[in-house]
Amino acid sequence: MVILDGKKISNDIKDEIAAEVKKMKDKGEKVPHLAAIIVGNDGASLTYVGSKVKACERVGFESTLVQMSNTTSEIELLDKIKELNENPEIDGFIVQLPLPKQINEQKVLLAVNPDKDVDGFHPTNFGKMALDMSTFIPATPFGILELLERYGVETKGKHTVVIGRSHIVGRPMSILMGRKGFPGNSTVTLTHSHTKNITQITSQADIIISALGVPNFLKAEMVKDGAVIIDVGITRVTDETRPRGYRIVGDVDFANVCKKASYITPVPGGVGPMTIAMLLKNTLLAREQHNL
Ligand code: GUN
Repeated sequence: MVILDGKKISNDIKDEIAAEVKKMKDKGEKVPHLAAIIVGNDGASLTYVGSKVKACERVGFESTLVQMSNTTSEIELLDKIKELNENPEIDGFIVQLPLPKQINEQKVLLAVNPDKDVDGFHPTNFGKMALDMSTFIPATPFGILELLERYGVETKGKHTVVIGRSHIVGRPMSILMGRKGFPGNSTVTLTHSHTKNITQITSQADIIISALGVPNFLKAEMVKDGAVIIDVGITRVTDETRPRGYRIVGDVDFANVCKKASYITPVPGGVGPMTIAMLLKNTLLAREQHNL
């Protein structure tokens, strides 16, 4: 069994990006600038956005964090998005999800200039992705592809089962794994809350990508010997023995599933750090495209 070490690979990618940034600086060019908008004070979201900003510093990017209160109106957020769309200093930006109830997520995603949409959530970019056109690929699916590629995990002709159909992970992942090329060329089954007899489906899978958010959902008896297991779950579970009072738990019962898996991602240290690295990669791409 091989651990797909997202922490190590994400550090390799950050080193590669930092080297590109150094070249830009040496040539006197402007370095990439990522902005992140966060609305409200959800603890997990604040942690993720904080990590994204810290990662920018690590590779030499400029970063801007825009914090807006929980009571921000939709108009106020749309105005802020317009400002970032029009600001030539900003190469790419994200609006951290989820958003408070008073704000319509679809309106927000549509308001982001697709050329600055480094999350790849705008319908233009999502559509381009589905049509195999060059675009920003959502960071978590992009990170999973990169892990599979760098470890040389075969995907061609394999049966990939995706658990969860979120717009951020499951849905794009199901499209990407079925695309022509590597990683891709898989036969994909997308499962969700209405799927019947999920064990029958997962136990036939060569590759399982679980993006459900239910701790320890995927048990050893649901997995066939030699399967590749990608765990996207990052649920906070109360744990008074930890300094923060919680620990992060994945969707996979790692202790038992790892005995059957050929490759498996740990939580933490698997897909999570890859998401951040690929957001940086998209921002670098956005910067390069602004020069064209
Ligand atoms: N919330 C959870 N994952 C993500 C992500 O990749 N991007 C944004 N903007 N919000 C998220």
